[in-house]
Amino acid sequence: MRIGILTGGGDAPGLNAAIRAVVKSAANHGAETIGIEDGFAGLIDATHWRQLTPKNVPGILRLGGTILGTTNRRNPLAYPALGGVVDYSARCVETFHGLELNALVVIGGDGTLAIAHEFCKRGLPIVCVPKTIDNDIAETASSFGFDTAVSFATDAIDRLHTTAEAHHRVMVVEVMGRYAGWIALHAGVAGGADVILIPEIPYDLDKVAQHLLAREALGARFSIVVAAEGASAIGAGYTIREMGSASAAERLGGIGERLVTDLQRKTKKEMRSVMLGHLQRGGVPTSADRLLATRFGARALELVLEQKWGTMVALHPPDVVAVPLATVVDRVRTVPPDCDLVRAARAVGVAFGN
Ligand code: F6P
Repeated sequence: MRIGILTGGGDAPGLNAAIRAVVKSAANHGAETIGIEDGFAGLIDATHWRQLTPKNVPGILRLGGTILGTTNRRNPLAYPALGGVVDYSARCVETFHGLELNALVVIGGDGTLAIAHEFCKRGLPIVCVPKTIDNDIAETASSFGFDTAVSFATDAIDRLHTTAEAHHRVMVVEVMGRYAGWIALHAGVAGGADVILIPEIPYDLDKVAQHLLAREALGARFSIVVAAEGASAIGAGYTIREMGSASAAERLGGIGERLVTDLQRKTKKEMRSVMLGHLQRGGVPTSADRLLATRFGARALELVLEQKWGTMVALHPPDVVAVPLATVVDRVRTVPPDCDLVRAARAVGVAFGN
């Protein structure tokens, strides 16, 4: 049996741990693993692949990024071309058969999973593994990469506390999280933020300003505001850095700077913003992410052997189960505005600006 494997979309710490688990489990069952490079783009160009064996994947468990490369701006169904887009799906299917693959393990986030779903409809035998630091994939309680991102953001907030305190400033920290505020919520609560702004709870700027001033009136000389990149004021849209296209999603970014401008005007307090950006996705995966990625990779191989095509591995604590891919695509797992963590945050004095 020959199993293809690819990683698509933004990278997430733990991707290599998942690849390793697939390669090692496959070898245990006498199967070969073929690594497709740069996501689905590697299927368009039939030369972008290499054989993966337990011997050539040592040491990758603790490595960030992905040894296979990835891309989130190269959708094979709407590939950017001069004057428009081209559908390369037939060529990808051809490459799959040309490589004599019997199965394809696709590791990716929402965009990649949607593409994989389209290839399932075109008859490819696919099993998916969810990954994203945003933790917003439907039907799984968690995805790897999230824990590493939260740990990094929490550490950053800890560091910003000391300089905010020294300068009596408000520090605004912008974290990733396009449509879901999980990173902002988890890191904000763990880091002791005073205000947390997430896409699921549009904020009223006046209320945010009042909260900061009320803290000052009570003697606090600094504050920490954590904002997800997808947070927005009531009635306002996203802060967009680069518009999307047929082949790529829009890029968000800049809400931190915008908040500093708007809040400084309202409060007359000195503020600075820090965008954590791709630092959240880089570096060594935490042990929790290595474990989840290993469980997902090993389970994906079981599903391949069981020929459970069109499924995705998912964490339904305490188990890793298979869910139909069709139930995952076109959905986002957002933060329920009244979930226990939001209530706990409010209980310890965090404002959400609503
Ligand atoms: O989906 C994961 C994510 O990290 C988002 O939080 C962010 O908006 C996006 O990827 C950025 O992607 P890139 O800059 O790699 O295109």
